[in-house]
Amino acid sequence: MSGLSSFGQPLRAAVIGASGGIGGALAARLAANPAVEAVFALSRSPVPADGKLIPGHLDTDDEASIAAAAEGLAAGGPLGLVIVASGLLHDGGALQPEKSFRHLEAAALTRSFQVNSIGPALVAKHFLPLLERERKAVFAALSARVGSIGDNRLGGWYGYRAAKAALNMTIRCLAIETARNRKQTVCVGLHPGTVDSRLSQPFQRGVAPEKLFSPATATGHLLTVVDGLTPEDSGKVFAWDGREIPA
Ligand SMILES: NC(=O)c1ccc[n+]([C@@H]2O[C@H](COP(=O)([O-])OP(=O)(O)OC[C@H]3O[C@@H](n4cnc5c(N)ncnc54)[C@H](OP(=O)(O)O)[C@@H]3O)[C@@H](O)[C@H]2O)c1
Repeated sequence: MSGLSSFGQPLRAAVIGASGGIGGALAARLAANPAVEAVFALSRSPVPADGKLIPGHLDTDDEASIAAAAEGLAAGGPLGLVIVASGLLHDGGALQPEKSFRHLEAAALTRSFQVNSIGPALVAKHFLPLLERERKAVFAALSARVGSIGDNRLGGWYGYRAAKAALNMTIRCLAIETARNRKQTVCVGLHPGTVDSRLSQPFQRGVAPEKLFSPATATGHLLTVVDGLTPEDSGKVFAWDGREIPA
């Protein structure tokens, strides 16, 4: 069980994209933690209620649904942790990561940016005001190592890489702005490693078994990183092992 001892308790947390492999495991792991009072498991596809896990609707394509979800939580008290675990690499059909510039298509690029960068930015717009002011609070979005410009040696996956790089820039801006009047708020991107989920399924060939994490293992890593975050970390992107990923 990952500790969350650096947060004020009882902790109220929200996971956006709770119907996904990682988002679902995060919500379940948080709900199982005695330090956590409630986990708001927000998703486009419904998830079942389970003890402290309270489901709700949120489609990141639809700002009104983001605003409504945030408004629904506002009266219950501040949140200590918001994790955006929604994202898109492929849709199992026409939308696939591009291997070459010849494959670039406006519709696929637009979709990737919509889900991977615009959606999380709008979640920040409506959920940052709900965060604790007087105690540590974390706004984390699942990014990806491939969104690092400095780390890009392989190329390809244009839309996904560029959209995650844009997400990382949004996180940096959020960190600068929140540092002015929310001194205990930390905004970060997180790379979960390669995790066995719908998103990674077509790309798992060639991944060594010990490098393919189950969602449960990945969320243990991620919550350990989140627990160790301090305001000095705000604006950065961290991998599952706690190491910073270059911009
Ligand atoms: N798996 C990996 O190896 C890996 C590696 C690096 C980074 N990541 C990142 O980790 C995050 C989670 O990925 P995952 O592996 O858990 O993938 P996943 O199982 O495919 O889950 C993706 C989640 O995103 C949600 N989503 C997509 N579009 C949405 C929208 N418009 N509104 C609300 N939710 C939406 C999906 O909702 P529906 O269920 O409704 O479709 C689902 O809950 C993503 O940001 C991904 O880029 C994953």
